[in-house]
Amino acid sequence: MRIDLTDEQRLLQTTCRDFAAAELLPHARQWDEEKHFPAEAVTKLAELGLLGIAVPMEWNGAGMDNVGYAVAMEEISRGCASTGVIMSVNNSLYCDPLLKYGNDEQKRAWLAPFASGEKLGCFALTEPEAGSDAAAQKTTAEKKGDAYVIRGSKNFITNGPQADAVVLFAMTNRAAGNKGISAFVVDLHSPGVVRGHKDRKLGICASGSCSLFFEECVVPLKNRLGAEGDGFKIAMSTLDGGRIGIASQALGIARAAYEEALHYSKERKAFGQPIAQLQAIQFMLADMATEIDAARLLVHRAASLKDRGVRHSRESAMAKLFASEMSTRCANKGLQIHGGYGYTKEFDAERHYRDAKITEIYEGTSEIQRLVISSAVLKGS
Ligand code: CAA
Repeated sequence: MRIDLTDEQRLLQTTCRDFAAAELLPHARQWDEEKHFPAEAVTKLAELGLLGIAVPMEWNGAGMDNVGYAVAMEEISRGCASTGVIMSVNNSLYCDPLLKYGNDEQKRAWLAPFASGEKLGCFALTEPEAGSDAAAQKTTAEKKGDAYVIRGSKNFITNGPQADAVVLFAMTNRAAGNKGISAFVVDLHSPGVVRGHKDRKLGICASGSCSLFFEECVVPLKNRLGAEGDGFKIAMSTLDGGRIGIASQALGIARAAYEEALHYSKERKAFGQPIAQLQAIQFMLADMATEIDAARLLVHRAASLKDRGVRHSRESAMAKLFASEMSTRCANKGLQIHGGYGYTKEFDAERHYRDAKITEIYEGTSEIQRLVISSAVLKGS
């Protein structure tokens, strides 16, 4: 595995860093407060090719690799974590399964306009009673002639309020357990699709999530991804990639917390000197810097395995577990370094603290990552 970035990845990093500094950072606090979906920023992400980074150019993507995707996700999330997750869901959870499991007709219709950013995608696996236990799906897809009729509901669907299409999982054969789950791509403007109210959340408040209800929603047979019964494996392997995106988002949030705390510690004076001169603060900064670098190495290892086509479930789970918990620790230290000011809305430290937490929960909680890792460790893989 290369530790240094290629020239192309470095150029992407600079482009994303400059874009985040100019177009995201100045607005992120206000978008968060107003719970404003940053549609203008998403249009600019599309212009920069950031909504289909690892999708080949023939399908309107940027034709980059997954290490590049991780680098871009870190930089965008450093500017605005909400924008980061909007981008991550479209790239990893929507475009990636279409690229991997879609046929050419599906790619033309359902991948190309989403990789270019003309349209936005989302991913619906979670249900009110099927979160960590993803195989416990209640939504059904009943085959009728040349279509499936979908009945059921999904919740916590990031991009749900805005998305044009969803990669959806539903039971086609309940008796077969996880082997009875199938994957579909569904037009969210179809009859029978109802979007719930936007969720009220602790953090990432500028990104929208909601429930999706499918009421006798008719989906053509040709919209099934892969074979009947392949859905669970499609969902799990998609999440192996998605977890790289969320780990990178966590890294970006941690960087924001660290860089702002570092700057503040040089300005703020106490006991007659900048607090950066106090060992208590220096040790916190040292821990933050070390943990951020350690997380990045895990993230880039998982991304480079994905680039080489090697199964990376364990490595993605390790990257997400460590990066997300590290992000929460860094955001906590960043707020602590800001003292009482950190607890106010005058600084971004409190937003990073709220934003970091979700990275330990979505796309598999820390407990689920530990399950995936321990199962691999026990199998000796
Ligand atoms: N790739 C391919 N196949 C896989 C796989 C992977 N990563 N993981 C499991 N499988 C296969 C297994 O090999 C097994 O196949 P066989 O039966 O043929 O051997 C089958 O799938 C079942 O595997 P398990 O027995 O391990 O399945 P399980 O029911 O015990 O579940 C789990 C495992 C890890 C707990 C899984 O349910 C899981 O990951 N849960 C968390 C769900 C999750 O992450 N949800 C996030 C929702 S999306 C989201 O959050 C989006 C957002 O808002 C941003």
